[in-house]
Amino acid sequence: MVLAKDGKEIEVNALLATAKPEILILVKGLPDRSVDYLIIQDGPQIAEYAISPCIHLGCTVEWDLEKNQFICPCYGSQYDSQGRVVPVPAKRSLPLISVVVKQNQICLVDRKPAVDPC
Ligand code: FES
Repeated sequence: MVLAKDGKEIEVNALLATAKPEILILVKGLPDRSVDYLIIQDGPQIAEYAISPCIHLGCTVEWDLEKNQFICPCYGSQYDSQGRVVPVPAKRSLPLISVVVKQNQICLVDRKPAVDPC
């Protein structure tokens, strides 16, 4: 189950009824993780991937609308809208999280699920 940053459960139908493409939504869905971003794409629909915290020390990256990049508040690592690193100081891209939508619920999984996570 995915919770918004404010701790409220996110229902897919309600989210998509008000969503606009390119909106990023801070959520908590994985244990031992701070927060991740769900991405809303054209449709609207929820992208099949979520953006995870920065690879350096695990800070939550912030979306900079003007630069169209995620920027880490720690040492300024930068990533594009799909989590790919923009040179220095980070040396690799953000690991993506799989997003599974089923029966009006969103589930985040660390990698492609071998079993049904919902
Ligand atoms: S945690 Fe992102 S640069 Fe340090």
